[in-house]
Amino acid sequence: MNPTLADKIARAPKAELHIHIEGSLEPELIFELAKRNGVTLAYDSIDALRAAYAFTDLQSFLDIYYAGASVLLHERDFHDMTLAYVERALADHVTHTEIFFDPQTHTERGVSIATAVAGIESALAEGERRGLTSKLILCFLRHLPEEDALKTFDEALPLFDHYKHRLIGVGLDSSERGHPPSKFERVFAKAREKGLKLVAHAGEEGPPAYVFEALDLLKVDRVDHGVRSMEDPALVARLADSRIALTVCPLSNLKLRVFDDMAKHTLKALLDQGVAVMINSDDPAYFGGYVNANYFAILDALKLNDAECYTLLKNSLEASFVTDAERLAMVAKLDAYWHGGHNGHGAA
Ligand code: ADE
Ligand code: ZN
Repeated sequence: MNPTLADKIARAPKAELHIHIEGSLEPELIFELAKRNGVTLAYDSIDALRAAYAFTDLQSFLDIYYAGASVLLHERDFHDMTLAYVERALADHVTHTEIFFDPQTHTERGVSIATAVAGIESALAEGERRGLTSKLILCFLRHLPEEDALKTFDEALPLFDHYKHRLIGVGLDSSERGHPPSKFERVFAKAREKGLKLVAHAGEEGPPAYVFEALDLLKVDRVDHGVRSMEDPALVARLADSRIALTVCPLSNLKLRVFDDMAKHTLKALLDQGVAVMINSDDPAYFGGYVNANYFAILDALKLNDAECYTLLKNSLEASFVTDAERLAMVAKLDAYWHGGHNGHGAA
């Protein structure tokens, strides 16, 4: 790895746009919350749980991820989980983050969406005071029927109004294969009518056709992962022309065996074709690293140069769901840092 460039990236201001807050739950906190809440886990130690993080595909990960989330019962649990992420993000010089949460994982255990959002919100408000701006995106679980997503959306309606500044969009996650975006056309149409931002996981394990469906049927503003788009030149051209961003998560892709070697990752090819890609952590507690570790892994494997790293960072800021004025201010800070001696204070 190029240590100078890695150090420059580490301290660069950046946005993270693909992070499942339940995927930031470290084993230590899972055990602490299990004890606090009297929840029994299938693993008898932190080491045993960590040892189970040997995934073979997306589903093998999701099974453990949903089991880990079972310790979240009270508002305070969501707060503690989110504050731990806020601290890790600040340590990586993340200045803006857009966080996913999976309400259906919690409502099926009798935990209301309002409880989850209140706990996440109070930690994000604390993050704002410490210099991390943020948005929250409610994701539907695609392995469940669309009727469940519609019910979840209706339940969340008052929250979209109450937390207007924070809860700004909906997304689609969980088991991709066999659950195409077309299954969720109606609920996304409702979210669009309400003026919410729209994102969907597509082209992670699923084919390029799923990315087309996310664009054409769900009318998403961003695509999560989308790394299999490279298999279809027409799709790559469409993404590049429209500047619809792909929120790429390298360590996730390696751990879930989307690529068997980081050197085979499609990120650089997508970047070369003009697609707006950037780097994110997805589920950092499960995949071995927060956002900077993801930058280092891809920098090392694909031998990215200074200009390519700058583009990834800039794409993260430009693809954020913030106002134009906020976007311009974020990019100006990155420019001052990147081109001005990178002392972290933006000196020119
Ligand atoms: N939920 C959490 N992480 C996910 C991923 N990488 N893909 C789909 N659903 C997820
Ligand atoms: Zn994800």
